[in-house]
Amino acid sequence: MNIIMIGTGYVGLVSGACLASLGHTVTCVDIDPAKIDSLEKGGCPLYENGLPELLKTTQKSGNLTFSLGLPESLEDADAVFLGVGTPQGDDGKADMRFINAAFGDVLPKLYPHTVVVTKSTVPVGTADRLLAWMKTDRPELPGHIASNPEFLREGTAVQDFLKPDRIVSGANTEHGTAVLKAIYQPLEDAGHPHLQIDPQSAELAKYAANAFLATKISFINEMAGLCEHTKADVGAVAQAMGMDNRIGKRFLRAGPGYGGSCFPKDTSALTHIAKEAGIPVQITQAAIDANTAAQERVIEKISNMTSLEGKTIACLGLTFKADTDDMRDSPALTILPALQAKGAHIKAIDPAGMSQAKKLLDITFCDSVATCLAKSDIVIMMTEWPEYTGLNPADICAMMNQHASIADLRRVWTPERLKQAGFKNTYVLGS
Ligand code: UGA
Repeated sequence: MNIIMIGTGYVGLVSGACLASLGHTVTCVDIDPAKIDSLEKGGCPLYENGLPELLKTTQKSGNLTFSLGLPESLEDADAVFLGVGTPQGDDGKADMRFINAAFGDVLPKLYPHTVVVTKSTVPVGTADRLLAWMKTDRPELPGHIASNPEFLREGTAVQDFLKPDRIVSGANTEHGTAVLKAIYQPLEDAGHPHLQIDPQSAELAKYAANAFLATKISFINEMAGLCEHTKADVGAVAQAMGMDNRIGKRFLRAGPGYGGSCFPKDTSALTHIAKEAGIPVQITQAAIDANTAAQERVIEKISNMTSLEGKTIACLGLTFKADTDDMRDSPALTILPALQAKGAHIKAIDPAGMSQAKKLLDITFCDSVATCLAKSDIVIMMTEWPEYTGLNPADICAMMNQHASIADLRRVWTPERLKQAGFKNTYVLGS
């Protein structure tokens, strides 16, 4: 199949390279000349496992090319994917500016056989809206529109694309359904199910999946709070829950709240979609509120360990999770300024997120774990990078000031182990 992928951000570039690796001819389009130039020269603008290698092999095979703006003609395209961003607008709704601009560019150039597919996360009803737009501006076209949401996690996006639990697509015509089937046939042949449903359900399924996962995390984080006030341990509770196949053990890791570019934005957008439909989604709203509460609880717990006035805190990890350089909605962005406001001086280190973090946090950035820990009174395990979780807590304690405290927000160690390591005050989230 011949595919045009508009947008070389996270969704577009990973999807474009993966589709090219399946044997399709893919042109990735962007309006940013520097980005296209760098990609053409073999650069990779994203921190993503396996992506630089995939870009290299697919460019070399000739299956993947780049274009600044749309190619002259779209005549050869079987499908045009819209993979541009749908960030959170000021009002919490999905901001559709980039989708509208991309579709507005494509529409005058569209051929009757080409299917327009939204890959970005878009509010339910977007396919209908784009179709109505198409019918008004190009009434002679048959109008093939589809939704094909992605379920890629940062850090494992390439693997998630090429070995998906499921592919979901929804086209409004038989031709569109057939084109999407052909695009994903190599993955179906490898045993990955492809669920072809209607466009509206495909659009909503993406929000529903993210909201459900966010709810699962918020649920276990609430249990973690309860565990902290009882003798229960959230790790054991999650294990007992997760062994029930109806519940499943994944996404039951308690932590400082979910962050990233997806769960916060998509849960917020879903509540707006629902409000507009007059059907409030109370559980999703509760998951959002519980996520805020989880971070507030962490701030309170750390503040109660010892007075923060004049203390130095060493923060290990800043990104919203390991294996990404993404700082968007990272819990560190809420927790660290709150601790600063209570009089603490913050030093931090992260293997990948430092350059983004420097734009967002007014703290001291360190270039080694040793300098971060030196002369610190409290250490926070913020992000579960193996570089930090693999450290020996006794070594950490030895590098810090006397009578040091530790807040383990990722549950790497037990309170007993931390006490044995020499820490005076210990807080292990959910224990
Ligand atoms: C998420 C979804 O997992 C993907 O399926 C989806 O495609 C993507 O959003 C998207 O909409 O594009 P991602 O944001 O990369 O992917 O990150 P996750 O691995 O899902 O983690 C999100 C947050 O939840 C992180 O802050 C993580 O630390 C937290 N989390 C995750 C927990 O606190 N506990 C868990 O058990 C799992």
